[in-house]
Amino acid sequence: MTLAAVVLTCCSEDSEVSAQTVESTGKTLVVYYSYTGNCEQIVETLAGQIQADVMRIEPADKTQRYEANNYAIGTELLNTIKAAPNEATSYPAIDPVSVEDLSPYQNIIVVTPLWWSQMAAIMQTYLFNHSTEMSEKHVALIVSSHSSSIGGVVSDAKRLLPGVVWAGDALWINNSNHSARASMIENWLKTLNLAKKQTIMGKMYINIGSKTLPVVLDDNSATEALTAALQEGDIAYEANDYGGFEKVGSIGSMLPTEDAQTTTQPGDVVLYNGSQIVLFYGSNTWSYTRLGRIEYTSAEELEAFLKAGQGNVVVRLSASSAPTAISVVRTAVGEDVYYTMNGQRAYAPRKGLFIKNGKKVVL
Ligand SMILES: Cc1cc2nc3c(=O)[nH]c(=O)nc-3n(C[C@H](O)[C@H](O)[C@H](O)COP(=O)(O)O)c2cc1C
Repeated sequence: MTLAAVVLTCCSEDSEVSAQTVESTGKTLVVYYSYTGNCEQIVETLAGQIQADVMRIEPADKTQRYEANNYAIGTELLNTIKAAPNEATSYPAIDPVSVEDLSPYQNIIVVTPLWWSQMAAIMQTYLFNHSTEMSEKHVALIVSSHSSSIGGVVSDAKRLLPGVVWAGDALWINNSNHSARASMIENWLKTLNLAKKQTIMGKMYINIGSKTLPVVLDDNSATEALTAALQEGDIAYEANDYGGFEKVGSIGSMLPTEDAQTTTQPGDVVLYNGSQIVLFYGSNTWSYTRLGRIEYTSAEELEAFLKAGQGNVVVRLSASSAPTAISVVRTAVGEDVYYTMNGQRAYAPRKGLFIKNGKKVVL
């Protein structure tokens, strides 16, 4: 019954019906621009205090000296935007960005310099281009200036991002308090209303072949650990028939156990020996930790779903009923086993992209 297991880490941040909410902050992206290095230092300090991905915006034209001739070029760029703020051509070109897909992020922190009491033109380009994708996300703003106050930058941010949820007041860091930024950022972060990660407690989904059924979960330490793991990505494992009443397979890692002598019913999902998940199409009496119950309508449907008596299947557990993209794959057992990009075991892999020992391989 030792079976290979793959853990498919994906980008699902599902927020369906939830019985409980895990109070950890959702995924955060810090987007910044820095010409003379102050915002860069602010971002370094910020990144030391929160878990976040960081993306730097760069102008396409790196030869510009914005401060030359009494900041004439910076002024010119801002005046062009002011004259036609709804025209994409008003904004200076920027390099392609490293994070193209904002969908995994619930929170975005924008860190920008102030130029002539406005938002630096380069950062304005990014916000103008990505305003739609950022809508409904929780957004916070840090502005760095020499001494000017930041009301104009806040106005620019509101104009450029009409659809976002502002997570709190903007933080102003200037030349005289730049060196005290660590404590300023720490205190400011505490005031923010950042989006929280929604964890689906109470439900998960089992996929076998082309069919997916929901599972109503019990509330115990095993299901808590399992749903937390599913928040990181789907879990796929191989399961086989045993005893004429169950499909059982190892998920490759241990969950907490609360074992008790149990007589199972068809549809029951239990944990056996801490790492084996058992899906019942019949009944057995043993010491298990209950995980939950598959929602099915008839014994025939359940037996067909579990492919009762038909041997090996790949079972995929997920927090969401929707299929999710796979970004990282890790095999729990270092076998020479190939999986398709959908997490299905490939018994005779030929040409194409497969997953072997946790790595994508091209055959
Ligand atoms: C084009 C330009 C215009 C600026 N205008 C102002 C200003 O009006 N008031 C101010 O206090 N600082 C102004 N500054 C200074 C920057 O806001 C300040 O140095 C900031 O910390 C720069 O951030 P960075 O080092 O990340 O580029 C300006 C800087 C530039 C390049």
